[in-house]
Formats: sequence, structure tokens, C-alpha cells
Amino acid sequence: MTDLSQLEAGLTAQIAAAADVATLEAMRVGALGKSGSISELLKTLGAMSPDARRERGPLINGLRDRVAAAIAIRKTDLEAAELDARLAAQRVDLSLPSPPERRGRVHPTMQVLDEMIAIFAEMGFGLAEGPDIEDDFHNFTALNFPPKHPAREMHDTFWLPEDERGERKLLRTHTSPVQVRLMRGLNEKLPSWVANGQEPPIRVIVPGRTYRSDSDATHTPMFHQMEGLVIDRAIHMGHLKWTLETFIARYFETPVVETRFRPHHFPFTEPSAEMDVRCERSGAEVKIGQGDDWMEIVGCGMVHPNVLTNCGLDPDVWQGFAFGFGIDRLATLKYGMPDLRDMFASDVRWLDHYGFSAFAQPNPATGLS
Ligand code: DAH
Repeated sequence: MTDLSQLEAGLTAQIAAAADVATLEAMRVGALGKSGSISELLKTLGAMSPDARRERGPLINGLRDRVAAAIAIRKTDLEAAELDARLAAQRVDLSLPSPPERRGRVHPTMQVLDEMIAIFAEMGFGLAEGPDIEDDFHNFTALNFPPKHPAREMHDTFWLPEDERGERKLLRTHTSPVQVRLMRGLNEKLPSWVANGQEPPIRVIVPGRTYRSDSDATHTPMFHQMEGLVIDRAIHMGHLKWTLETFIARYFETPVVETRFRPHHFPFTEPSAEMDVRCERSGAEVKIGQGDDWMEIVGCGMVHPNVLTNCGLDPDVWQGFAFGFGIDRLATLKYGMPDLRDMFASDVRWLDHYGFSAFAQPNPATGLS
């Protein structure tokens, strides 16, 4: 065996024996690196006679090419084997139970909002919204609050600083200004989700945030209301009564609701009423439907002719009713939360307790979860 074939046999054996890419690489450097065994042989060609070089050159070069090719093939095999081993070791076991994960809860106000929208939608009500920042005209004047009338102060309004035109905007104290926006159609400059003026008939609910400078167990500076507005020809209080009673029965999931309409005063309705429902109280708990007590649930009335006129509707042609619910209050009544302020304290433990699963079974009364 010549020295070259001996070297080749040795290298070939080493290549075959290399168990991983790193060993193979060390071996490659030992043979083909700068001072590797084959590289050293190639260097000897320079000092040879032309005849000797012509004979040895092709032999050494051939050896180098075969060894380089064998190393490349072995490297591909080893890499594939290493990848296989890694894939096998790191395989995801889909049958393992997943680690526990915190699941968010639906806030009671949002749950109740969904329930209310579903019930009113079934009665044919559409949905509208209005801006949180209002002007005096929409919040008060157009709603028939006389100028300087104490009713304006009753609302404990949050006024904003005067703007460059000397006007003071405010945080709306109720959702009723959206009635005006709906009837007047003054919303060209507002984003498209805001109520746009409608020609009667109008049959709409308006949920939204409202603000008053007030804070105790049943009041928070920000709360949620749901306005209702129906305008058509020959609308009367019977329609109002049926609508509210039907809603209350569905919402509280009780077949029997007894209501009473107590005369009240709102500037924007005439007559105005507060609707009470029969209930039973034991301690902090209230059971709606039957009992020997009454609970005030909603303010309502027939839209005042002045409001219709302010909104460009002829009161001799169009009549309507309106109502205003406190959404958070309806949530506390149905789901038994003692202090309204807790609803907006953003305490996750509270939400864990009172919140709703986003994946709950549909509620048979509302079709919603
Ligand atoms: N806007 C009234 C309030 O915040 C609630 C209300 C009462 C709304 C009677 C109405 C209504 O639409 O007819 O106190």
C-alpha cells in the first residue's frame, strides 16, 4: 500500500467513525486545514521536479477531492441525524394538560348592557350613541330645562373650561341629549358611530357613559345610562307601559311583574313618571316580581311638546315616549352588588367574583350568555 492509499484509508475510517458534526469538523481541519495532513502533502509539490510533480500532483489532488467529498456527505448525514434527534427530544406533547391560565371576566355592566340590548332589539329597537362631551343646548336647553332653572344645578354638572369661543362644554349628565341629536340630525361633524338624525318613526335605545359630581354607595361620578326613545304618530302611555313591563319581565326573568307609575317631574317629558316594580326585600337582598314593597326602576314619560318643537317636529303630528335606565343600578339589583362604587374600583378580585364568563351558556331569557 502506498503512503497515499494508507492515508486515504485512515481518513476514510475516521470520517465513517465521526459521531457528530463537531468531531467531523475537527477531523476536516486535521486533513484539509491550513496545516492538515493533505495540505502538507500539497505543499511538497512545489519542491518536486516537474516529472515527479506531474506524477504525484494528480494523486494528491485526487485524494484531497475524494476526502473533501466524503466529509461533505458525512456532514449532511450527521446534520440530518442531529435534527431528527432534536425533533424527537423536543416534540410537543399535545396530550399534556395546559398550564393554568388567568381568564378574563366580563364586567357586570357590560353583561347587563348586552342583556338589555338583546331584549330591546327583539322588541324592534335600534341602537344609537352620542358624544360624552356635550354642550348646554343638547344637555339642557333643547330638553326644555328653562334657563337658570335649578334643575340644571340638580345634575351636579362637570363643566369644562371655557373654549376659545367663550363656550363651556360639559360632560353629559344623562343620555337624554342623544334624543335631541336623533331628532334634529345635527351630527354632521361627529364620527359616524354617533347617532345621526332620523326621520320619525324613531325607535331607539341609547346606552352610554354619563357623569355627575356625586359619590356614595348608590352614586359614582361616572355611571351608565340607557335612554329609550320612541316617536311615531298616535303613541301613548299604553305603549310606554307595555314596553317597560315587557322589558322588566324579561330582564328579571320573572313571569309576573306588577308596576306602578308614580307622577314625577322631568323637564323633557309631560306627563313624567317613575316606574316602580313590586319587590320583596330581606336585608340587602331584593327580589323583583312579587312582595309587599316597591322599587323605583326607571324614569319615563311622554316626550314634552316643547322638546319635539325644539327638534323641529310638529307635536300635533308626532308623539313619543322616552325612558332612562341606570344600567349599573340594574346590574346591582339583578346580581346583588351592595355598593355601586365597587363596580368602578377596578379590583380584579371583585371582578373575579361578580364578573361573568365570556363563554357562558346562553341565558334562556335573553338568548345571550
Ligand atoms: N335623563 C333622566 C335622568 O338622568 C332620566 C330620564 C327620565 C330619561 C325620564 C328619560 C325620561 O328619557 O323620559 O335623570
